[in-house]
Amino acid sequence: MPAKYRRPLLLVAGALLVTAAVVPIAVGSASAQDEPSGPASGAQPRIVGGDEASLSDHPYAVYLTDSGGNQYCGAVIVSSSAVATAAHCAKAIAASDTRVVAGRQDKRTDDGIVLAVSKVWIDPDFTDPTKGDDIAVLTVRGQLPYRPAKVADASDRSSYDTGTQATVLGWGRLSDGGARSDTLRSVVVPVVSDSACKTAYDTYDPASMVCAGYPDGGKDACQGDSGGPLVVGDTLIGVVSFGDGCAKAGKPGVYTRVSAFSDDIAQQSQGRILG
Ligand code: ARG
Repeated sequence: MPAKYRRPLLLVAGALLVTAAVVPIAVGSASAQDEPSGPASGAQPRIVGGDEASLSDHPYAVYLTDSGGNQYCGAVIVSSSAVATAAHCAKAIAASDTRVVAGRQDKRTDDGIVLAVSKVWIDPDFTDPTKGDDIAVLTVRGQLPYRPAKVADASDRSSYDTGTQATVLGWGRLSDGGARSDTLRSVVVPVVSDSACKTAYDTYDPASMVCAGYPDGGKDACQGDSGGPLVVGDTLIGVVSFGDGCAKAGKPGVYTRVSAFSDDIAQQSQGRILG
């Protein structure tokens, strides 16, 4: 072989080695923790241990689809023109292909509205859900004629007390390998102490995350629920971010601590008034 071909071949071989070394690790951690269940991945469980929920109780609960209508994340209305979601959801699909579906409890219907996204804000510090800052705000084209959630701020500290009963909402499967639910589900999970969450996840950062779940598991959010709301009453305290599997004992769900981002969310959801 002529000498001039050797270096490119070596580069290709090197690239293959790097790919072989990196991809299994990336896939392993993504499927275990932080990957939204995309249009192509139908096998992952979603809300676990929950019940059917009504949009009349939670009109701010919305979901995101790709341009083909496949639901891949949840989100929550925070103003008449914006929804909050997880940063990893906002990054999963190009803004031009993202749709916000509001007012539709059952995916099989054409209830409610489908809006395009005109602007995406992703927390500039976000890198990976396990490192925190998993928050984004999508501005929609048009108006959301549904009651927004109240975004928790510093005055809502008590909503984060250990044992507070919070409700997480999402669209998806009932259990690992179970049938996919086409309708909105909810499950009540208690807020977990920072020390217990730190024991479960060594990257847990109490400044930007909050955990919820039962010591024995059984009830949890799961893949596909990311970006969706964790509420106490109508106050949004968390956004579904990640977990080690779903509903496992000793592995509570991890949520973005919304009160830490209330200023950003307010600023990003004001709409076009005064730029
Ligand atoms: N990262 C998942 C998603 O993108 C959500 C995982 C939540 N997991 C949990 N055990 N609470 O849909």
